[in-house]
Order: sequence, then structure tokens, then C-alpha cells
Amino acid sequence: MPSSGPGNGTYEASLGDFQAHTSLRIVKRAPSPHEGSMIAIRSIQPKELDAWLTLSGTLPADERLGRRVRAAWEDGKSGPAMTFVVERDARPVGRLVHISSPAATVLPTALETLILGLWLPWDADDVVDIGRRLIVETLGVLPEGVLAVDAYANPEYMPAAEIRRSVFEAAGMPLFQEKEGFLWRSSEADPPPEREPRLHFQSIEDVGQDSFARVMSRAVIGTLDRQDHYYRELVGPRAWAREMLGYLDPLDASAWLLALDGDGAEVGYVLVGAFDEPGQATIVHIGVVPEVRGRGHVDELLQAANAAARRRGFNRMLSDVDVVNAPMLAAMERNGHSSPATPWHVWHHRLEPVGSARPGGATPADRRRSTGPQRLAGRHRP
Ligand SMILES: CC(C)(COP(=O)(O)OP(=O)(O)OC[C@H]1O[C@@H](n2cnc3c(N)ncnc32)[C@H](O)[C@@H]1OP(=O)(O)O)[C@@H](O)C(=O)NCCC(=O)NCCS
Repeated sequence: MPSSGPGNGTYEASLGDFQAHTSLRIVKRAPSPHEGSMIAIRSIQPKELDAWLTLSGTLPADERLGRRVRAAWEDGKSGPAMTFVVERDARPVGRLVHISSPAATVLPTALETLILGLWLPWDADDVVDIGRRLIVETLGVLPEGVLAVDAYANPEYMPAAEIRRSVFEAAGMPLFQEKEGFLWRSSEADPPPEREPRLHFQSIEDVGQDSFARVMSRAVIGTLDRQDHYYRELVGPRAWAREMLGYLDPLDASAWLLALDGDGAEVGYVLVGAFDEPGQATIVHIGVVPEVRGRGHVDELLQAANAAARRRGFNRMLSDVDVVNAPMLAAMERNGHSSPATPWHVWHHRLEPVGSARPGGATPADRRRSTGPQRLAGRHRP
């Protein structure tokens, strides 16, 4: 996992590299409350990207971030004009990049922007104000059609999660969803089942995508997950289910399981997919149709997920659940997925509509017409 923070040799070296490049476009220059020092926020030049990547002090530079930013620059989702540094008295003290992507296949003209690579002077007394300005004063470069800006804090792999949250709040980005992480390890025996099995499972390879879409569009009804609820309201349950199927990697097809009862009636589904690191999977999604909730079927679904992960050779599953989804939180702990075993915890902050933060932007009505699902699948590591 990457870590970041100033205080090692790379940081000083990168300052030198960075300052070698001059005549950059100044977005804003104004006195800072920090003892009269000058804060300047500017976009970078292409040749500055390598130095920009090392600014967080990570040794070596965060390769994953580098890959993502370069890819986004290449396919037009970002670019040097959307990649920023904030300098105090001409020395870099912060950075971020905006990456704008289509929100959903069903609403292709709507864009959502992700704030990535955020690094700030975490120990400075004015860090929140610097971060706020870095976000708010760079929103003007976002392309037309960007209707929401997302930013995340997760203590598992980000320093200063609490400060990040304060920055997002100060920038007018309230909490959109909070999710607790759960870790399952194949080396630990699963708790014994509390009742005789009642379900049997068929993979998406066996039953095809239409059956899956039908059951998923039923099981999202009444969900307590805020992100799923939000996007389902926006696009409707059928489009939501189709969008979710877009996350299917053919390698995971044997672990996308439909649950049927003894009469062959569709009860629910559980989707296990590779996630982030070799040997690691996640529960991409899980659901029980409303008519048969409260009968403990979720336990059998999770046990089937555990067995599928073992069959696929995964050592771990890292999954997360909305902290307001009490039935799902309890079911995870009952079935070998432990929240104390991982610091993974997601604070998802969101600015929406972006129009409220810049003149002439989208109205709430525009937003409802245009925005749509993004990252509907379970775990997300920005
Ligand atoms: C969460 C879910 C999978 C639980 O499945 P389940 O088989 O009904 O789980 P349980 O049998 O353990 O139910 C536990 C309790 O929660 C209640 N409950 C379950 N889902 C509920 C919901 N969406 N709203 C209110 N109560 C709910 C059940 O009625 C039951 O209450 P009871 O013990 O008083 O009878 C199922 O509710 C569901 O599919 N929800 C929508 C999709 C979802 O949230 N998926 C998880 C995303 S991470």
C-alpha cells in the first residue's frame, strides 16, 4: 500500500526538480493567513508530472497513481490543465488532480469528477484552508457536463484521513456515504452454518446475464446502501442491474452466483471478484429479494461466497458495507468477515451539484436529468 508524507530525501529532491520548471499558469495568487506567506495554485506542465508524483514523499513515487494519471491524461479524462500544485512562497505544499469520467453507460453525457493524488501540508496549522482553496479554486477547469465531484478518505492507505475529511467539508463536499471494511481470510475456518442448507447456486455462466439482471433489479429494492439507493433512484432498478453486470470480469464468472430455493425460485445473488492485489477478492455485491428477507438467506449467500473464493484460490476478501446497513453489517461478522481485522474504512464525500460551486453551472434539475451511476460495484480504491 502506498503511503505518503513529507520528510524524506525524495521530497527535497523533488522540490528542486519542481522549481526547475518555471512560467507556469497561475490560477490564483493571494495572501495566506499563514503569517503573510503567499499561496499560489497553478496547473502543471507535462514535463512536471514526474516531479509532481514524488511530491507526497513516497519512495518510490506512487506507481499506481502515476499509471492512473498518465492514462487519464492520454484518454482525455484529465490533463496538465486539470493537475494542480499549491505553492507557499514558491515551494510546493500540496497537489491534486481532477479526473472526469462518464458517469454511466446509460447516461453517457454525464460526467463525474474524482479528486485523486491529494497531498497537503498535513502538519501545518492552515492545512484545511489550503486544501479547501486547492479544491474550490480549481473547480473552474472542469469540463462542461461535470455534475458531481467525489473525494475519498480511507485510513488503510491514506495518511491524515481526518484532515482530509475536514478539507472536504470546508470545500462544501458533505459526506455522501461511509462504509466499514471487513476482512476474510481463507486460512481461518468459517463459522459453522446455523441451519441446514436451503439454497443451491448457479453461476452467471450457467444461467446467463438476463436471470442475473432480473434478480438484481428486484434485490436492490429497499436497499439500505446509500450509493446503491441513490443510483437506483436515478436510473431505475433495471438499468442499475445492467450497469452492475458491466463490472463482470470473465475470470470471475464462476464466482458470480445466483441463489435458488428448493422449488427453483430466485432468492438472491452474491458476486465475488478479484480486487486490487494478487490473491485478494471482494464481495462485489450481494442481495436477497424483498419477499424472502429476514429468513437468514444472507448467511448461505456469504458461505457460498467464501467457498467460491477458496475455489478460485483467493487468500483474502476485503469488502465494505454502508455503516447504516445494519442487517448486512451483522451478517458479515456472523460469516467470518471481520471488521476489526482491517483499518479499511471509506469516507466518500461528494460535491453535488457542481453548479452550486461555480457560476452558471447545473441546477438540481439538470443533475437529475443527466447524472448516473459510477463505481456501482462494491469496493473502490481511489
Ligand atoms: C442485506 C440483505 C442481503 C440481508 O438479507 P436477509 O437474508 O434478509 O438477512 P437476514 O435474514 O439476516 O435479515 C436480518 C434482518 O434485517 C431485516 N432487513 C433486511 N434487509 C432490510 C432492509 N433493506 N430494510 C429493513 N430491514 C431489513 C430483515 O427483515 C431481518 O429482520 P428480522 O431479524 O427482524 O426479521 C438484504 O436485506 C438485501 O438484499 N438488502 C438489499 C441489498 C443490500 O443491502 N445488499 C448489501 C449491499 S453491501
